[in-house]
Amino acid sequence: MKALVLIATKHMEIEDIDQPTVKPNEVRIDTKYAGICGTDHALYNGLPGSADAVPPIVLGHENSGVVAEVGSEVTNVKVGDRVTVDPNIYCGQCFYCHTGRPELCDNLSAVGVTRNGGLEQSFTAPASVVYPIPESVSFKDAATIEPISCAVHGMKLLKITPYQKALVIGDGFMGQLFVQLLSAYGVHQVDFAGIIDEKLQLNKEKFGVTNIYNTTRDKIPSDYDVVIEAVGLPQTQEQAVEATRKGAQVLMFGVGKPDAHFQMNTYEVYQKQLTIQGSFINPNAFEDSIALLASGKLNVDPIISHVLTLDQVEGVLQGKVKGVSKAVVKVGD
Ligand SMILES: NC(=O)c1ccc[n+]([C@@H]2O[C@H](COP(=O)([O-])OP(=O)(O)OC[C@H]3O[C@@H](n4cnc5c(N)ncnc54)[C@H](O)[C@@H]3O)[C@@H](O)[C@H]2O)c1
Ligand SMILES: [Zn+2]
Ligand SMILES: [Zn+2]
Repeated sequence: MKALVLIATKHMEIEDIDQPTVKPNEVRIDTKYAGICGTDHALYNGLPGSADAVPPIVLGHENSGVVAEVGSEVTNVKVGDRVTVDPNIYCGQCFYCHTGRPELCDNLSAVGVTRNGGLEQSFTAPASVVYPIPESVSFKDAATIEPISCAVHGMKLLKITPYQKALVIGDGFMGQLFVQLLSAYGVHQVDFAGIIDEKLQLNKEKFGVTNIYNTTRDKIPSDYDVVIEAVGLPQTQEQAVEATRKGAQVLMFGVGKPDAHFQMNTYEVYQKQLTIQGSFINPNAFEDSIALLASGKLNVDPIISHVLTLDQVEGVLQGKVKGVSKAVVKVGD
C-alpha cells in the first residue's frame, strides 16, 4: 500500500509498504483524510511535537477513515464504521494519569508521531482512541476533529459564561476555531485580532464577530473578560495580557519558541486578579468536538484552505505553498 514516509529529518518519500496487521486490541483504518498542522512542520524539521518522532515514521495525527479490520478483543467499533482517531495514547500509570490529568502523562505516545498515522492508505490504532463519527460529519471535516479538540480542551480550562466579552488574537485555523467555539459556548461578544484583513472580515461576516482589529495598525482596548492568544509570539502574548479587564482569564494557547519569554506587569496580575492559563493537547474532548460539528454549531469547511494529495505534502511542510491556513490531505477515495 502507498505511504508517505518521513525517512529522515526534512526528507519524505512515497513508498510501497506492507499493510499493517492488528493486535487483539487494535483497529485498522482505511484512511480518507489526514490533516496537516504546526506539529507536522515541527516533526518534519526534527523538532519534537507532543512527543518525539523517530524516522522512519508515517505522520498524520489528524485523520478520518473507515474501519477495515478489528482485533479479537475490540467491541466499540466494527468493520465499515466511519471513524476518527484521538492520536494521544496515555500510559494510565504515571502520577499525572493517576490524578486525572492524562494530557500531562510522562509516557505519552501518539498515532502519527511515535507510531504510523494517517498519511498512508491504512493505519492501526488502539481501539480505545477510535471514535465513531455520524453520517452528518464529512470525512474531510472529521480530519479536523483533533485540532478542534485542542481548542475544546482550552475552552474547558476556562470558566465561560454569557456576560463575558472575549477577544481572540491570531487569525490562523485555531484562532478561527476559537471564534466559533466562544459563540457556541454562549459568550455574548467575540472580537477578533489578526494581521490578514480578509480573514478578519470573513469571520465578521460569517461567524458573528463584533469588532475586528489588525494588530499591525489598530489599538486593542483593555476591556476583555476572556482573551485567547493563538499565535505564540511574545508580542501577541503581551497584547493578550494588556487587553484584559479586571477578573479576566487569558488562555495562552499559541506555542512559543522553547527559549522565548514575554514580559508582564506583575502588579497588573495582582490588581486585576488575572488568570493566565496554559493549554496542552486535547484529553476527553473528542465527543464535544464531534457534537459541535454534527450540530452545525461549528462550521470548518469555509476555513479549510487547501485539499492536497500525498505528493504535495512535503512542499507544504517546506513552506513552499503560500497562504495555507488549514490543509487536509485526501488519502483514500
Ligand atoms: N495548545 C495546543 O494544544 C495547540 C494546538 C494546536 C495549535 N496550537 C498553537 O496555536 C497557534 C495557532 O495555531 P494555527 O494552526 O492557527 O497556526 P497558524 O500559524 O496557522 O496561525 C497563526 C496566525 O497568527 C497570525 N499572526 C501572526 N502574527 C500576528 C500578530 N502579530 N497579531 C495577530 N495575529 C498574528 C497569522 O496571520 C496566522 O494566521 C500556534 O502557535 C500553534 O502551534 C496549540
Ligand atoms: Zn495537529
Ligand atoms: Zn501517564
